[in-house]
Amino acid sequence: MEKFDVVVIGAGAAGLFCAAQAGQQGLKVLVVDNGKKVGRKILMSGGGRCNFTNLYIEPAAYISANPHFCKSALARYTQWDFIDLVGKYNINWHEKTLGQLFCDDSAQQIVDLLMAECELGKVTLRLRSEILDLQRHESGEYLLKLNGVNVSTRKLVVASGGLSMPGLGATPFGYKVAEQFGLSVKPVSAALVPFTLHKPILDTLQQISGVAVPITVDAADGTRFKESMLFTHRGLSGPAVLQISSYWHPGQAVTINLVPDTDIHSFIEAQRSEHPNLSLKNSLACLLPKRLVDSLVELSLLPEVTLKQLNSRQQQQLVEQLTAWAVYPNGTEGYRTAEVTLGGVDTQHLSSQTFEARDVPGLYFIGEVVDVTGWLGGYNFQWAWSSAWACAQAL
Ligand code: FDA
Repeated sequence: MEKFDVVVIGAGAAGLFCAAQAGQQGLKVLVVDNGKKVGRKILMSGGGRCNFTNLYIEPAAYISANPHFCKSALARYTQWDFIDLVGKYNINWHEKTLGQLFCDDSAQQIVDLLMAECELGKVTLRLRSEILDLQRHESGEYLLKLNGVNVSTRKLVVASGGLSMPGLGATPFGYKVAEQFGLSVKPVSAALVPFTLHKPILDTLQQISGVAVPITVDAADGTRFKESMLFTHRGLSGPAVLQISSYWHPGQAVTINLVPDTDIHSFIEAQRSEHPNLSLKNSLACLLPKRLVDSLVELSLLPEVTLKQLNSRQQQQLVEQLTAWAVYPNGTEGYRTAEVTLGGVDTQHLSSQTFEARDVPGLYFIGEVVDVTGWLGGYNFQWAWSSAWACAQAL
């Protein structure tokens, strides 16, 4: 039986950062992961450049049954703290859009940073490890049976992430541990994920797969995002759609404004007085990709008339179609392509200061396994850094 001060389950963003901090405080730390590589999601993230934080981190950008839970950790270890750390490792970065910070070179630099921090903390790493059994002894010690070795620890940190991308090692392990020790888990679902569409509309929109347009999109609860939307061969994607997917429930519509920066009534009036014989289609092609306009006509969302023929009822209808197009997704692409998992370990059982389970001394949950889910754009990695750091201070 090998003894550690801290065992961390999961060598992802939260687990590695927490282990490094704990190790640097002089604790003997073991990190266990089922994969053969550390930080696999980090390497995949941001198109290989890792969108490691956001300049505009704020609690309102996180979804949780308790919207206050994330506040303390985000305030104690901020985006500026992580940006400083990135600076210490001479990693060059740039802001892409909306405060999203990416490495100039490669996401590998963030993994290298975490590994260097772990080395400073003399952290032991066990990859390709399964946790075959986990028990809490009455002494308060956690006993873990791994393939090949048994270990014990007084502090167990679960940083095993959510369910998205099972191909990258995602498992429900963290939720099972929570339930084993009497903590509830909020229902989980795939989030930051593309929508799939029903057959008739899909058949038409598939033809414009690859077309992207700037939009605003509203969920039924009034949440709105203004970013771009991409038509795909399965349905809808792009940042606006990924964002709104976290607020969408099956059966609901999302409402899309395809011309968010144009007063469409005035546009049509002006076009009509200048070019009365121009077709509505060609006129709208000044605002939207022509192939999209053709598809909207094919879906009977726009009439096939000239501007002169367009009557006021039709004009009113077309304004509604373009500014409040109600689309009913038939689902999402699911965990296979989702960036994150909504829901998770119920925060009512955890301290927002230390991430320790209130009724199970020595058991901690950090990162995505917890019921805190950020927006697209570096918010989820910042949650991993902030929750890991706050937890490590308490170990
Ligand atoms: P994470 O999933 O990183 O790590 C969990 C670890 O636990 C994994 O290594 C896993 O193998 C291990 N594990 C799971 N079950 C286990 C078991 N039973 N036994 C042992 N080990 C186990 N966010 C962001 O802010 N900016 C971005 O650019 C992106 N981009 C992005 C791209 C893609 C493709 C995905 C899938 C996700 C993103 N994200 C993102 C989200 C971000 O990657 C995610 O929120 C964090 O990685 C969560 O960090 P955690 O450490 O909590 O889990």
